[in-house]
Amino acid sequence: MQKERAQWSSHISFIIATVGSAVGLGNIWRFPYIMGKNGGAVFLLTYLLLIAFICVIPLCCELAIGKKYKKDTVSAFYEINPKFKWFGWLCIITVLMIPCFYFVVGGWILNYIWIFLAHHIPPDFAQYFSSYSSEIIMPCVLTLLFLFMTAIFPYRGVNSGIEKANNIMMPLFALMLVLLAVFALTLPGAKNGLEFMFKPDFSQFNKSMILIALGQALFTLSIGMGAIITYGSYMKENTNIFKSAYTLIFFDTLIAVTAGVVIFPVVFSFGVEPTAGATLVFISLPQIFTKLPYPELFGVIFFVLLFFAAITSGISIMETAIASFIQNFHISRKKATVIVSIIIALICIPSTLSFGLLSGVKLFDKTIFDLLDFTTSNLLLPFNTLLICLISGWFINSFTREITENLILKNVFSILLKFIVPFILLLVLIYGLK
Ligand code: PHE
Repeated sequence: MQKERAQWSSHISFIIATVGSAVGLGNIWRFPYIMGKNGGAVFLLTYLLLIAFICVIPLCCELAIGKKYKKDTVSAFYEINPKFKWFGWLCIITVLMIPCFYFVVGGWILNYIWIFLAHHIPPDFAQYFSSYSSEIIMPCVLTLLFLFMTAIFPYRGVNSGIEKANNIMMPLFALMLVLLAVFALTLPGAKNGLEFMFKPDFSQFNKSMILIALGQALFTLSIGMGAIITYGSYMKENTNIFKSAYTLIFFDTLIAVTAGVVIFPVVFSFGVEPTAGATLVFISLPQIFTKLPYPELFGVIFFVLLFFAAITSGISIMETAIASFIQNFHISRKKATVIVSIIIALICIPSTLSFGLLSGVKLFDKTIFDLLDFTTSNLLLPFNTLLICLISGWFINSFTREITENLILKNVFSILLKFIVPFILLLVLIYGLK
């Protein structure tokens, strides 16, 4: 007999868990530097428009598929049509590839918490980061530790593990973010930082910015690999999809923008280039912390915050694979968690080592880490999202009824879903390939 499917104990828990999945390194590590690189306020405006009108469509699709079928990703696509089962597995492969860069960064975060906590602050973070990330033992140990810490929660189950973790960590995360934002706004460079974020300079607008913004929006909403289908499958019957989707978008964007409000005033106060790239968080910011009155305090708060963001997303990444393993291989949750953890560990290690020992191993001129990041973010996510839209729009009978009862809204949604969004996603994909 089939066991009854787990369910979030309240609507709020569902929203917190989904926001926990969406809010992650994408908001705090990726968003500010992508925005910095792409002209600040104009990018923000483009991003807001895209997320509110385009990305909301696949987001609603994933939520609705979860709600309608109440199954893991693989079984849901099988139920839509057995010939789509392979696509369910492609989503799981995608979700298993994300930790290869996500959990590696998780390991770096653990290391940074430690150096600030133990007062081992290096004088030069640029040099420190490059020598640390190229070590062999420590980065691997910490990547695995991050994996272990994440796996504990899905191992314990939906309510007593995942839900509890999110209900505790997300409010703490929000509190720390607000504290840091209030502090950042008192810095002398706050005005310049805010101007950079909120005063658009339309001469900066360009085509590639649109596609970068779209890719970022998909990643940050955890769309395109079944994570939202999985979390959606635990939602209560009477949940409103549209409302949930916009609530999620609202919080995700609010947090990304607040992360910018923390980072840009700091960056402008200390004369660092806002376009410093991915190293912004691991080199420029910690270097700035050392100039503040209590560097340890800022360092610890910032990296613990980043840790909460990363682990709550990591949990949803693992749960997506675990839920599919449980159902399709008929194994217990505990066994599935162990198997998924082993698979992730095996692919994370070479990726962690690609900053040192394996830095010479390259394909298409990319290291293992860069290749996995590129393949998932630029190719698989837009491709999977495209298929999710096409399958929902063309292969599920009266799908829009799942989303809304309003006739006008239904028609607009349907046109966006069947034609416009797939076309735009195709463009993102072609651009990603270049
Ligand atoms: N949305 C997360 C972030 O912004 C990343 C993520 C991707 C989480 C896919 C779950 C699934 O960091």
